[in-house]
Amino acid sequence: MEHPSSYKLCLLFYIFLTHAALLTATHTFTIPRLSPNPEWESTLHNTVVAIDDADKQVQTFYFKQTLDHFNYRPESYTKFQQRYLINFKYWGGANSSAPIFVYFGAEAPIDNSPKSIGTLIDNAASFNSLLVYLEHRYYGKSVPFGSRAEAYKNASTIGYFNSAQAIADYAAIIKHIKNKLHAKNSPVIVVGGSYGGMLASWFRLKYPHLAVGALASSAPILYFDNITPQNGYYVVQEASETCYETILKSWSEIRRVASEPNGLVTLSKRFNTCQHPYELMEYLKWMYVDAAQYNQPPKYPVNVICGGIDGASHGSDILSKIFAGVVAYRGNTTCKVNAPTNLSQTTLGWRWQTCSEMLIPIGIGNDTMFESAPFNMKIFAQFCKQMFGVLPRPHWITTYYGGHNIKLVLRRFGSNIIFSNGLKDPYSIGGVLDNISESIVVVHTVNGCYSRLSLRFTDILGPVASSKAHSYLSINQE
Ligand SMILES: *[C@@H]1O[C@H](CO)[C@@H](O)[C@H](O)[C@H]1NC(C)=O
Ligand SMILES: *[C@@H]1O[C@H](CO)[C@@H](O)[C@H](O)[C@H]1NC(C)=O
Ligand SMILES: *[C@@H]1O[C@H](CO)[C@@H](O)[C@H](O)[C@H]1NC(C)=O
Ligand SMILES: *[C@@H]1O[C@H](CO)[C@@H](O)[C@H](O)[C@H]1NC(C)=O
Ligand SMILES: *[C@@H]1O[C@H](CO)[C@@H](O)[C@H](O)[C@H]1NC(C)=O
Ligand SMILES: *[C@@H]1O[C@H](CO)[C@@H](O)[C@H](O)[C@H]1NC(C)=O
Repeated sequence: MEHPSSYKLCLLFYIFLTHAALLTATHTFTIPRLSPNPEWESTLHNTVVAIDDADKQVQTFYFKQTLDHFNYRPESYTKFQQRYLINFKYWGGANSSAPIFVYFGAEAPIDNSPKSIGTLIDNAASFNSLLVYLEHRYYGKSVPFGSRAEAYKNASTIGYFNSAQAIADYAAIIKHIKNKLHAKNSPVIVVGGSYGGMLASWFRLKYPHLAVGALASSAPILYFDNITPQNGYYVVQEASETCYETILKSWSEIRRVASEPNGLVTLSKRFNTCQHPYELMEYLKWMYVDAAQYNQPPKYPVNVICGGIDGASHGSDILSKIFAGVVAYRGNTTCKVNAPTNLSQTTLGWRWQTCSEMLIPIGIGNDTMFESAPFNMKIFAQFCKQMFGVLPRPHWITTYYGGHNIKLVLRRFGSNIIFSNGLKDPYSIGGVLDNISESIVVVHTVNGCYSRLSLRFTDILGPVASSKAHSYLSINQE
C-alpha cells in the first residue's frame, strides 16, 4: 500500500521487539494495543473531556451472557454477567422506528466510552437514536468465571476469549435490547474504533440481519497474514528533525555505555531507574510508540517528549537529552524508569488476544528511528506457549473474516460500511484506504496521529459519512 506523501514528514517509529536486546532481561513481546482511548485518559479522570452531560443520562444494565456460543458441551451453557450502557436521551422511540447506534467495546472497560466517544452523541440528536455501549467479554465488569484471576488463570478459562465469541455476544445483546424495547423495526448501526472497528466491520459481514450498517474507525483489518508489509506501522508526526536524530542516535549510545565496566549502574543512575536498568531501551521505545499512537489533545505527548529532548540545555549529551524527554513526559518523580506497576487489564487481555488470534505481525524496518527488528514468528510463538500454554493461530483471522482481495470480495458481497482512517495513526496502514463500492466507502481524517475518537459522521468526516448513514437507514425502511 502506498503511503500518502505526508508520511515523509514523519517519524518512523518501530513496532515490535523480536529479539532480546542487550539490555533486555526478559523478552517483551508486545503488539501495540489498539485501544480507542489512550491509557492516560482512563487513568486521569480530569483529562476526560465530557462532550455532553451524556454520562448522567447513561443507565447501566447487565445481560446474562452465554459463555460459549459455538459448542453444546455442558460448560458452554454457563452464564456470565455482561455489562452494557444505554443513553435514552435522544431516542425517538420504537414506535417511530428510530435507529439504534451500538458502540462496540474493545480491549478495555467501557466506563468512559459514553463520555469519550463523541461520534455517537454528535449524531444522536439528528437521528433521534438510542445509544448503546457494549462491553467486550473479559474486560471491565464483563468477566466470566467469577473473577478476573479465575478467568485469566489458564487456557481452559481464557480460551473463551476471542473475537467470534465477542461479536456473538454483541448479537445476543442487540437482539435482547430490541426485544425488550419492542424495537423490532429500529435499524441498528454498529460503530467501533480500532479493534472495536474491526469487530464492527466484521459484524456487518457476519450478522447483516442485525445491523444495517457499520462505521469502522481506524480498523486495521488488513494487518494480518502478509497483506500489509510488516514494517508498515509508522508513526507519523511533525516532530522536529533534531528530536528524531537524537532518538535515533541514542540506542547505540545506550549500548555503548552499557558495555562499559559498571555501565549498567551508570545508566541506572542517569535514568533514575528504580529496578534494573535492563529494560531501559524497551521502556524508551514503548514510551515513544505510545506517545505517538496517542498524540492527541489535550496532551500531545510527542510534542511534550520532543520538547524535553530539544529543550535540554545547550551542550547536553545524548543521554541527558533523552532523560530530559522522559522527565518532560513522565514528570519529575522519583522513579523515572521501571517504577513498579500493575499491568492494566488492557495489557493483559491484549496479550492473550495477540497470542491467540489477533496476531498482527509488525516488524521494525531499517528506516525508522529504532533499531531494526523484523517480526520473528518462531520467537513470538515460543513466548505465547510459555505465557499461556498455547500457540497463536496467525492465519485464523483471514480464514474466518477474510482480508485478502478485500476489494473484490467486498464489492461483490458487502455493503454499508464506512471505514474512516486517521492517516497519522500508525495502524492506519493496515486499514482499508480506498473506496470499494457505492456503499463501502473510505473517509480519511488527515489531522492527528490518532483519530479514533473522531469518527463523527458530520463535523470531521464531512457530509459523506452522514449521508451514507442516512442512506443505510433508509434502505432498511423499504
Ligand atoms: C407505541 O405503540 C403502541 C401500540 O400502538 C402503543 O400502545 C404505545 O402507547 C405507543 N408508545 C408510545 C410511547 O407512543
Ligand atoms: C487450568 O487450571 C485448572 C484448575 O487449576 C486445572 O484443573 C486445569 O487442568 C488447567 N488447565 C490447563 C489447560 O492447564
Ligand atoms: C527534579 O526534582 C529534583 C529533586 O526534587 C530537583 O533537584 C530537580 O531540579 C528536578 N528536576 C527538574 C527537571 O525539574
Ligand atoms: C498493584 O495492585 C495491588 C493490589 O490491588 C496494590 O496493593 C498495589 O498498590 C498496586 N501497585 C501499584 C504500583 O499500583
Ligand atoms: C534496508 O532494508 C532494505 C530492504 O530490506 C535494503 O534494501 C537496504 O539495503 C537496507 N538499508 C540499510 C541501510 O541497511
Ligand atoms: C470515497 O467516496 C466518497 C464519495 O462517496 C468521497 O467523498 C471520498 O473522498 C472517497 N474516499 C477516498 C479515499 O477516495
